[in-house]
Amino acid sequence: MADRPLDLEFVRSFFPALNDSWAFMENAGGSLVPRTVIDRVHSYMTECQVQPAAAYRASQDATERMEAGHKAVCGMINADLDEVVIGPSTTRNVITLAAAIRGWFKPGDELIVTNLDHEANNGHWRRLEEFGVTIREWQVNPKTAELEIDSLKEMLSEKTRLVCFSHCSNIAGGVNPVRQIADLVHGVGGMVCVDGVAYAAHGTIDVKALDVDFYLMSLYKLYGPHLGVMYGKRELFLEAKGQYFYFHGEDDIPLKLNPGAPNHELTAGSVGIADYIEALAAHHIDEPANDFHGRMRQVYGLFAKQEEALSNRFLDYALAHPKLDVIGRATADHARRAPTFSFTIDGMSSQEVAKRLDAQGIACGAGDFYAPRVLKAVGIDPADGVVRCSMVHYNTVDEVDRLVKALDAIMP
Ligand SMILES: Cc1ncc(COP(=O)(O)O)c(C=O)c1O
Repeated sequence: MADRPLDLEFVRSFFPALNDSWAFMENAGGSLVPRTVIDRVHSYMTECQVQPAAAYRASQDATERMEAGHKAVCGMINADLDEVVIGPSTTRNVITLAAAIRGWFKPGDELIVTNLDHEANNGHWRRLEEFGVTIREWQVNPKTAELEIDSLKEMLSEKTRLVCFSHCSNIAGGVNPVRQIADLVHGVGGMVCVDGVAYAAHGTIDVKALDVDFYLMSLYKLYGPHLGVMYGKRELFLEAKGQYFYFHGEDDIPLKLNPGAPNHELTAGSVGIADYIEALAAHHIDEPANDFHGRMRQVYGLFAKQEEALSNRFLDYALAHPKLDVIGRATADHARRAPTFSFTIDGMSSQEVAKRLDAQGIACGAGDFYAPRVLKAVGIDPADGVVRCSMVHYNTVDEVDRLVKALDAIMP
């Protein structure tokens, strides 16, 4: 029996912040949170907000709920428990990782970063130049805002130690072929550190199948609480230098790579993301997979269809409009693009466009979204930046119509 298409009324009923008074299109900044997450955080704080790992009942309860959060997050990306650090944010996790592995590099080693990406998986790696590492920049094609594999191939050599890039751009929305890039980099003996923050709401992640060395995502962009998740291959985490207290042993992974105690209630609350996925699977999928990651892939298959419908509707309008210039791929194909649309309007400031859209009930962002390098590369002044309308599966085609109407009304 065919699985049902995404039941948007059911989906939207999980999100207390969603209602018809506005259209929320700043999901790439941070997605909304389902009540399954809110309930988990609330019940943790109500029932067991105590120091975990002590002998008394409430403390044991706290420990169990935090462990469940950690386990749920690992299940989302197919990682083992000791390979996943749940830290305060992706930015903080990269700072910690860069400090933990900086001793692996010697002067003359090459580290490649891009001019496409958010600064999180970028600037703190560039700082390793202070330790003699040579920083090289994999640059986008300025006409397309795309990273091209051929230019990476030209840069790779036996000097390449680490390549940092994104699974999906938070500006252009293009999906990069992570496994292909990881294979190329491994072929010269290097490692990859992949920023999956802008990807995780749209596509499932299997760190083993991708064969990534390090992988980053932020739960607040994945319908969860404000936390960052860092995966690392076990042997690499073991070799990395601990960044917590001296008495956490070097074999105490992942704890030694947490820059302090993990956030208790939010870690526990992360189970609510899995609760949400499970509820959607139970509602839509006739023959659910046996494991959580499999059910997540089934649910994300439904997300993909909905997101393609949103992209198609927006691109039909945007590509035909002479004054609107969208960055990135002119395709709704979900395997190649997320429904994150950054654009400029000829003759209008992006900041002004966002304000005028807000006046019509459309919440979107304007600026450089901490990725000013790519804006400069494609000839846009980061100070005014782009307008970004970013959608996820809970957005409706009606909301895109509303956006289109609002854009039409403000066009110069
Ligand atoms: C693609 C991308 N990477 C990294 C980050 C940084 O994540 P965090 O806020 O968890 O540090 C963001 C945040 O906007 C992002 O969009």
